[in-house]
Amino acid sequence: AELRLWGGRFTGASDPLMDLYNASLPYDQKMYAADLEGTRVFCQGLQKINLLTEHELSEVDRGLTVIEKEWASGTFVAQANDEDIHTANERRLGEIIGRDIAGKVHTGRSRNDQVATDMRIYVREALKDLQDILGKFISVIVTRAQEEIDVLMPGYTHLQKAQPIRWSHWLSMYATYFTEDYKRLTQIIERVNQSPLGAGALAGHPYGIDREFLAQGLGFSGVIGNSLTAVSDRDFVVETLFWSSLFMNHISRFSEDLIIYSTGEFGFIQLADAYSTGSSLMPQKKNPDSLELLRGKSGRVFGNFAGFMMSLKSIPSTYNKDMQEDKEPLFDGLTTVEHSILIATGVISTLNINKKKMFDALTMDMLATDVADYLVRKGVPFRECHHISGECVRTAEETNVALNELTLEQFKNIDSRFGDDIHETFDFEMSVERRTCTGGTAKSAVLAQLENLKKQLN
Ligand code: ARG
Repeated sequence: AELRLWGGRFTGASDPLMDLYNASLPYDQKMYAADLEGTRVFCQGLQKINLLTEHELSEVDRGLTVIEKEWASGTFVAQANDEDIHTANERRLGEIIGRDIAGKVHTGRSRNDQVATDMRIYVREALKDLQDILGKFISVIVTRAQEEIDVLMPGYTHLQKAQPIRWSHWLSMYATYFTEDYKRLTQIIERVNQSPLGAGALAGHPYGIDREFLAQGLGFSGVIGNSLTAVSDRDFVVETLFWSSLFMNHISRFSEDLIIYSTGEFGFIQLADAYSTGSSLMPQKKNPDSLELLRGKSGRVFGNFAGFMMSLKSIPSTYNKDMQEDKEPLFDGLTTVEHSILIATGVISTLNINKKKMFDALTMDMLATDVADYLVRKGVPFRECHHISGECVRTAEETNVALNELTLEQFKNIDSRFGDDIHETFDFEMSVERRTCTGGTAKSAVLAQLENLKKQLN
């Protein structure tokens, strides 16, 4: 028991299964770099208040550098008693620079402020990396939308054909969602990036360590203003997992649309071979597995979020071991989101669209609203126009013709205010071009959206 950090007051041996149950090293070693950096800066803080000499500090530095190389090259050898990354690094430091000096690095520090610090550094860096690849994903969507601006397709509500839109407008819709996710990340990173270091186990550092100095050294933008909050707060994990869940929700809807568009019945898009798989039985099959996994993994990420919320609720203040349960859902969520962004980027940059199928899916009844708008321009109140246009749709349906195939006489029989020019309404491109308002389907409006999105990424 004396081999353990906390072994002094213990006499009995622990249950080996308890050791396994308790250990977090298998997954928290991901944070080794943050842990070493935290110790490096903490020791600078100790040196500032004369708890370490210059020489001792440089020995610590030397040792930490060796350990960093060991982790990076995969040569770090974990020992049976290495409970977690903090224990493992401190044990190793003692082996390299001697226990006399290594035994001082934890002065006034607790694994409680240490783990919170490591986690915040790790999450901050992970979110910055995610933001980077998310920005690239959005750029790919925007570029594609600019290139294929002339392609028309049906827009849907209730998955029923509604009104004609541009394919680029659909792309821009998701780029808009993802841009909000991108901006939301900036706000979350700001809240993550607050320093708990120097809070000790819960009550603060007894030798007046300069917490602002520690924060600055670790790239934090401020310190957490209460030591109890500093060690007990895992809201930054919750927020990260919430963000991940919401992002994956967007990814899931995006994927679902594309899965539908890739069916034989729609045929709007075809995935590249790189993101499809075949069937072991049916030779003709090409399945959109990439999209189905993107959709499916949204459930997994939400599970991480919901699960950790349950772990966190009802934990009394301040640190309790329940909090170690933040790591696996967090790391799994971050990795899943990272891979999902990369896969979604691959999918959208390589899929082929079938412009003809998209255009051919447009049907004249989708211009019924435009027929109503035609009458609005003749001064008829919209409610009445809607009703009249509805009658036109019904007549066309009853006589088994497309809406534009009704004769002028038939139109005039329904309402005398229809004029010779009614047939000019039946033009999909014109319908789309009429919607020039901000956020509308007109080419100018879509291009403006795309420009605006690009600006928000910088
Ligand atoms: N491995 C622990 C965790 O991840 C580190 C903190 C341990 N603190 C403690 N008081 N036991 O939460």
